[in-house]
Amino acid sequence: MSNKYYAPGESRADRVRGLFAAIAGRYDLINDLQSFGLHRYWKRRLVRLTQPQAGQRALDLCCGTGDVAFALTRQGLETVGLDFSEPMLEVARRRAATSAPKPAAPNFIQGDAQQVPFPDASFDVVTISYGLRNLADWEQGLREMRRVARPGGRLVVLDFGKPSNALWRSLYFAYLQYCVPWLGWLLCGDRDTHGYILESLRHYAAQDGVARKMRELGLEQVRVVNLMGGMMSLNFGVRPA
Ligand SMILES: C[S@@+](CC[C@H](N)C(=O)[O-])C[C@H]1O[C@@H](n2cnc3c(N)ncnc32)[C@H](O)[C@@H]1O
Repeated sequence: MSNKYYAPGESRADRVRGLFAAIAGRYDLINDLQSFGLHRYWKRRLVRLTQPQAGQRALDLCCGTGDVAFALTRQGLETVGLDFSEPMLEVARRRAATSAPKPAAPNFIQGDAQQVPFPDASFDVVTISYGLRNLADWEQGLREMRRVARPGGRLVVLDFGKPSNALWRSLYFAYLQYCVPWLGWLLCGDRDTHGYILESLRHYAAQDGVARKMRELGLEQVRVVNLMGGMMSLNFGVRPA
């Protein structure tokens, strides 16, 4: 399978940037359609797993249009959302400007999740939702999450998973292969925008690989929460005190 938005190596980031520039305006709508609205629930699970405490600092990497950053802010965390796509950030900032009632809005900044522009140990919570899979080097993304987390800080990753049950995995991969690209075609005029999900997932270590890497990085309390039989997954870890 080949997809114009997926390329390993040096051009990976440019292709991914091009993809999100193309779909930014329709991103939220397609998310609701392709997940039947369930991504909102999965993101709530992510936020609960961070054990949010008002007044703490949070960083949401690959924040996109801001769902998780807004949710963390609503829990009283002082939140930064970081993304490398200006068109996605524009949507997030527009949402911040129009959302009412207004808690202090997240601070949205442009940056690379593989070179996070913050000093070591800056945040109590570091999240990444549907972002790690898109990085040219996801292990570097995880290292950065660990670096900027404070001792005792919680790291949570949400992304498409790989179900261990072969039949369930086949059905789900068929949905990603045949139905989801059709939504991309219908709403963005390009099947590849959403065919990219399966292509990138095939090249991604998913929940088990992320858990392994978290342990390798010395994180504690590492665990995987599988949702919908592993179609979606949350990875959790704590930076040692
Ligand atoms: C699928 S969207 C996820 C958006 C949001 N987190 C959500 O869950 O709806 C992936 C986001 O990752 C961003 N992204 C991909 N690679 C990145 C990188 N190296 N640094 C920062 N952002 C990146 C894209 O611009 C895009 O906004």
